[in-house]
Amino acid sequence: MLSVNDIHVAYGSSTVLQGVSLEVQAGEIVSVIGRNGVGKTTLLKAIIGLLKVRQGSLTFDGDDLTAVPAYERARRGIGYVPQGRLIFPNLTVQENLQIGADLDPVKNSGMMDEVLDEFPILRERFRQRGGTLSGGQQQMLAIARALVGNPRLLLLDEPSEGIQPNIVHEMEEKIAALNRRHNLSMILVEQNIEFAAALAKRVYVMDKGLIATEISPDKIMDENIVRNFLAV
Ligand SMILES: Nc1ncnc2c1ncn2[C@@H]1O[C@H](COP(=O)(O)OP(=O)(O)OP(=O)(O)O)[C@@H](O)[C@H]1O
Ligand SMILES: [Mg+2]
Repeated sequence: MLSVNDIHVAYGSSTVLQGVSLEVQAGEIVSVIGRNGVGKTTLLKAIIGLLKVRQGSLTFDGDDLTAVPAYERARRGIGYVPQGRLIFPNLTVQENLQIGADLDPVKNSGMMDEVLDEFPILRERFRQRGGTLSGGQQQMLAIARALVGNPRLLLLDEPSEGIQPNIVHEMEEKIAALNRRHNLSMILVEQNIEFAAALAKRVYVMDKGLIATEISPDKIMDENIVRNFLAV
């Protein structure tokens, strides 16, 4: 479904991604793990189109995306849940979700109700400001806002970051259910390796702007992986 081919991405003269390749099959959850600063967020921003790819290419459903702008990538079915959630705290839950729907109002007209059925808590809090929700609820709102755009591939940047452990478990079940029920493909960037291992079918381990290795989730706790790529 998605193919990332040897992409290079830079901030000014500082090259951060130095030839990253990965693939996501339809309906598959893959995870990207790695230490702080190795380029995980940069990779997701390049896939959604917020950062320019200087070398290499991206294809989605066989179409070359490399020169396609971010809003058009979203319209074609890629959803993005940024690190830190970035919901609008002064807008209501409804207004936050409407932003996701406005991307393509005709196509997404029926999505709001469907998404609220997935997240009953957001229906309860529909008219409250986003900033009044708990951290876990704000993360659900950020995910729901992306889902209103009706994506087939969802990019999730550290959804468990800063969330209470009991809520992390609830989020794990929610993400698994979305994948199962809607055959929604995902790239899950995570530092919480138990969370990543529970959800992903394959795990890409990043190190300094490159994919160092690809492993199956049951290998995520292996001493070599932890020591070489995760321990600080
Ligand atoms: N806007 C920017 N301008 C310049 N350098 C940046 C910018 N954003 C990120 N970087 C640098 O690019 C590198 C990769 O950053 P990135 O945010 O992709 O890492 P990450 O793996 O997502 O880290 P974390 O786990 O902390 O979220 C880091 O060295 C970072 O300092
Ligand atoms: Mg990051």
